[in-house]
Amino acid sequence: MQVAKTIAEIRAWVRRTRAAGKTVGFVPTMGALHVGHVSLVQAAAAQCDCVVVSIFVNPTQFGPGEDFEKYPRPLEKDLALCEQNGVDAVFAPSSSEMYPRENLTWVTVQKVSEPLCGRFRPGHFRGVATVCAKLFNIVGADRAFFGQKDAQQVAVIQRMVADLNMPLEIVVCPTVREPDGLAVSSRNQYLSPQERREATVICRSLQRSAELIRTGEKDAARITDQMREVLGQVSAFQVEYVSIVDAASLEDLPRVQGRVLIAVAGRLGSTRLIDNIVVDAATK
Ligand code: PAF
Repeated sequence: MQVAKTIAEIRAWVRRTRAAGKTVGFVPTMGALHVGHVSLVQAAAAQCDCVVVSIFVNPTQFGPGEDFEKYPRPLEKDLALCEQNGVDAVFAPSSSEMYPRENLTWVTVQKVSEPLCGRFRPGHFRGVATVCAKLFNIVGADRAFFGQKDAQQVAVIQRMVADLNMPLEIVVCPTVREPDGLAVSSRNQYLSPQERREATVICRSLQRSAELIRTGEKDAARITDQMREVLGQVSAFQVEYVSIVDAASLEDLPRVQGRVLIAVAGRLGSTRLIDNIVVDAATK
């Protein structure tokens, strides 16, 4: 497995790979890799000849007071996991390699970045879109793989790629869950044992919404009221939002119709957790 620390090294590796006629799948990450990332690597390996993983804790997507400093950075463990899972190359740049000078060029995806997490993390999606645009330009992959867990990130990146005619395909992979339903996330390791048990309330609220829709409920406010009731069973969980929106535009929907994203975010102690499901109301 090639480990590239510089842009020149990863570009040279990808150039050689492409010259050999191979397609390149790309999995951008911030490290602290878990089974969710492994599922993205597996999807990339199934759809492409070679897999590149980037590991970079991107400072521009963290707001003041967020967990940039304490974000886990177990690089050796991450590299071993990549190697075990057949990754062909890892791009693990330093901050100064990615941002060598004051950054004056930013990618802002309007509207799609604004609701949901955008209201609670100002500037976050500008940082995500900008670093993804840079990584896409650096790696030059055929396809990039993202997890549905970060639904708004997916919507922002898909819109950026479409609007800016970026020459790659975005592949969205299902959320990986723990046996008790909690969506796998690098941030789950911040939870105390009690918080870890309580965190399942989020997926239980999403399951309630799916049940309601299955039995014919279409009114978004009635569904979110029921979800809030479930979330209220854990008094420590501080809800940021419970929303039912169009899965592509992320616009609020008063009634459930088409491809609908049902999304929850909130805090347990100092840990911010998000989760979502997508329901196709045309078929359900
Ligand atoms: O999902 C993540 O880990 C990050 O937001 C990403 C896409 C690697 C950009 O820094």
